[in-house]
Amino acid sequence: MPQLLDAIQQRFACRAFHPDRPLTATQLALLCEAGRLAPSAFGLEPWRFIPVTDAAPRARIAGACFDQPAATSAAAFIVIVALVAALDPDSDYVRARFEAEARGGEVAPIDAAYRALCRDTPLAAWAQGQCHFAAAQMLLQATHMGLGSCPIGGFDAAALAQSLSLAPGEVPALVIALGQCAEPAPARIRKPLE
Ligand SMILES: Cc1cc2nc3c(=O)[nH]c(=O)nc-3n(C[C@H](O)[C@H](O)[C@H](O)COP(=O)(O)O)c2cc1C
Repeated sequence: MPQLLDAIQQRFACRAFHPDRPLTATQLALLCEAGRLAPSAFGLEPWRFIPVTDAAPRARIAGACFDQPAATSAAAFIVIVALVAALDPDSDYVRARFEAEARGGEVAPIDAAYRALCRDTPLAAWAQGQCHFAAAQMLLQATHMGLGSCPIGGFDAAALAQSLSLAPGEVPALVIALGQCAEPAPARIRKPLE
């Protein structure tokens, strides 16, 4: 049985894809499912996943990513959007998530802890951090499925938001470029475990 560590060892940031080898709807759904099941603080799941496969919107996203090679050659993207406005502690979104998180128990302690966090924490950066957990699971799932991937944080957020018609308070957190990788894995660079 393949081990999870195999995928962890094999994943790398691919910068050259076969742009003409599309992902299937099933593959994209599996990647989104891997993200959906990611952990999030307070169970808030402050994300939205936007798969992009058509050539014209892909080109617009690549442009928003400054036409980096991973973006211009990607066969598909999943853009992870942080639901920043929804994180207002008085929002219906937060109340619904806390009721789910409490599993029929008391919502008040969760609510109080969250309000304390909100007093000290810039929520946009916090939400983007949550989105990175979903991203990590998607990247490993892609490797497990034999797909290449590259997380892209280098983008013009305003251009990306415009190209995706994001609502106010929805903030791009990360672009994941996907496809069949057209380059060999480079040597791994990591600090030693010690
Ligand atoms: C949050 C985040 C943002 C990143 N942004 C970019 C990017 O904009 N362009 C790019 O080519 N790689 C990007 N990377 C990939 C890293 O450069 C890469 O993961 C790192 O060099 C380690 O290499 P490896 O993933 O192949 O092990 C990003 C990675 C992360 C986690």
